[in-house]
Amino acid sequence: MVSLTAEMSPLRPDRNLALELVRATEAAAIRAVPFIGRGAKEAADGAAVDAMRAFLGTVDFDGTVIIGEGEKDNAPMLFNGERVGTGRGPKCDIAVDPIDGTSLTAAGRNNALSVIAVSDSGAMLDASSVFYMDKIVTGPAGVGVVDIRLPVKENIHRLAKALGKPVEEIVVSVLHRPRHEQLIAEIREAGAGTRLMSDGDVAGGINAARHGARTDMCIGVGGSPEGIVTTCAIKALGGHIQGRLWPRDDDEKQRGIDAGLKLDGHVYEADDMVRGNNTIFVATGVTDGALVAGVRRESDYVYTESVVLRGVSGTLRRISSEHLVSKWL
Ligand code: FBP
Repeated sequence: MVSLTAEMSPLRPDRNLALELVRATEAAAIRAVPFIGRGAKEAADGAAVDAMRAFLGTVDFDGTVIIGEGEKDNAPMLFNGERVGTGRGPKCDIAVDPIDGTSLTAAGRNNALSVIAVSDSGAMLDASSVFYMDKIVTGPAGVGVVDIRLPVKENIHRLAKALGKPVEEIVVSVLHRPRHEQLIAEIREAGAGTRLMSDGDVAGGINAARHGARTDMCIGVGGSPEGIVTTCAIKALGGHIQGRLWPRDDDEKQRGIDAGLKLDGHVYEADDMVRGNNTIFVATGVTDGALVAGVRRESDYVYTESVVLRGVSGTLRRISSEHLVSKWL
């Protein structure tokens, strides 16, 4: 049931904001066009960051960047703690990832997205002091069924049962990293198949939770900012997500403790990562993927495809746009 209270409060992120924000991810994707497949990941990211920030500055909201491009001194723009928007309108937390998949973009490989996620003010966990998070994501069938504390085999069997299909038909997405060798072996031993991702576990998580996307679960260690961003989308999809912070060494662990984060295998449930359902997730394709097509230029036009997900209404909306090149590039 859609919460009218959340809809009606002028101080909380609303559906109009969701549609405004997509202009910022479109802009980031469009500005990345000259760099796609050109081997220049910093240049692609820089162009996307500049464009996203410029557009966010025109949107009527009072956003605080909880997850941005890093600390103020290293990240001149969209740094953690920066205020974005015109300052008028709803007060929100915002997570930005102008390009999730900078290496994918530089190489011209699939699955790079430009992403913004928003929640009520004070609702988003700032997990940025610990870079990695171990995650499990499924669609609605996994709610109350899978648990990150269980062995992967058990989760696969439980999910197959809940989905009413044989284990052999279960497909699990995992980032293709040496740290996941054992995990990949266990998935295959359990009888399921893997979809190995070279990067981009935001798209991987959403596809696992989305109806009809041909993957059933996304697991393993990826970025913790990406975990928070993905949570905003999973709220709209009614799926399951849990995370455990994964510090690389004692120094990072201490930084996490100092920042008030819970470590040592503590399981963050979806509501611990982003409180409540009043979330917005918008993404525009930078390169082609199962979620959205990548931005593409054809003669005088640039075409973008985006998704807008809202936690309150549980809607996934697709937006296809045509942009005149002469106005942009
Ligand atoms: P960037 O585009 O910011 O580099 O992130 C890409 C990504 O693949 C994320 O989707 C993922 O969460 C993270 O990197 C994994 O980190 P690593 O490449 O260090 O394993």
